[in-house]
Amino acid sequence: MNNLKRRVAFVTGAASGIGLGMTRAFLGAGMRVMLADIERQALDRATVALRTELPPDRADDIAAVVVDVAERQSVFAAAEATLAAFGKVHVVCNNAGVTSGGLIEETTEGDWHWVVGVNFLGVVHGCQAFIPHIKRQGEGGHVVNTASMAGVLGAMPAWAPYNSTKFAVVGLTEVIRQEGREGGYGASVLCPGGVATNIYRAPRNRSERYGPQRSTVARDVTAEDIGKGLDPDVVGRLVLEAILADRLFVFTDPRMRGRVERRHAKMLADFDWAARSDALTRAGAPGT
Ligand SMILES: NC(=O)c1ccc[n+]([C@@H]2O[C@H](COP(=O)([O-])OP(=O)(O)OC[C@H]3O[C@@H](n4cnc5c(N)ncnc54)[C@H](O)[C@@H]3O)[C@@H](O)[C@H]2O)c1
Repeated sequence: MNNLKRRVAFVTGAASGIGLGMTRAFLGAGMRVMLADIERQALDRATVALRTELPPDRADDIAAVVVDVAERQSVFAAAEATLAAFGKVHVVCNNAGVTSGGLIEETTEGDWHWVVGVNFLGVVHGCQAFIPHIKRQGEGGHVVNTASMAGVLGAMPAWAPYNSTKFAVVGLTEVIRQEGREGGYGASVLCPGGVATNIYRAPRNRSERYGPQRSTVARDVTAEDIGKGLDPDVVGRLVLEAILADRLFVFTDPRMRGRVERRHAKMLADFDWAARSDALTRAGAPGT
């Protein structure tokens, strides 16, 4: 997309952190935004605060809807609410996310249902609820799915549910970006490094249906750690720039490039090992 003025964005997790940063950047670019979040009070606070940053004649450029992205019907209802409020939708940011720590043997079934439900199925629901509208309108569009550097780098001990879902979000986004070539929309995957948000308090939004939280992320990530991260408003402006430039990956920490290079070098070394392996060479397998 190259002109975002008056275009409509839908952003999940918009009441806090990166979602709020994206919302602020979109409003600053003249867009209209539907803020969606599970936390009604935080959503109301964010909406009021953002309205005060806009000229009075743009008060209607913001609307808000309570949503639980893990619930398919809730996301489809939010899509209807977005169309009712603005008539159209062009940019969809599937950003809401949570984290739950613990070694693999400590994690509960509830931990997996919660983290997979929000971080991965939440993104699936957002794509399914909104992409048909973007295609039908025929005015172009863009999907931004929030993964993490945890979706690009493996091996984050004690973060299995989070790490796994973020890899899934990267894979899903690469697929829909291909599908979007026919469908007339773009797609990007946001892979933040550390950003100063409320993510370390993620269990505040864990519903009772997932059972008790036994291990906490506080063991791994503290308020102090996260406070050293990037300003979420900067991430919001980066996302805006990436939509206009139609980038696939949106990285927030260029210092992490070396770690990605080392991961890929290890992967390539394992191809070379496979090409020399007894099993494949004896079988005369292609590529040996
Ligand atoms: N902060 C970081 O360092 C960092 C790094 C990499 C990736 N991320 C990702 O960025 C995204 C945003 O997180 P953040 O850091 O801004 O955290 P945050 O806690 O400040 O914001 C997350 C928002 O999502 C909302 N939310 C939680 N569960 C929800 C649900 N079921 N339905 C709808 N909304 C829900 C929360 O109420 C909150 O407003 C997440 O996907 C997270 O995994 C964050």
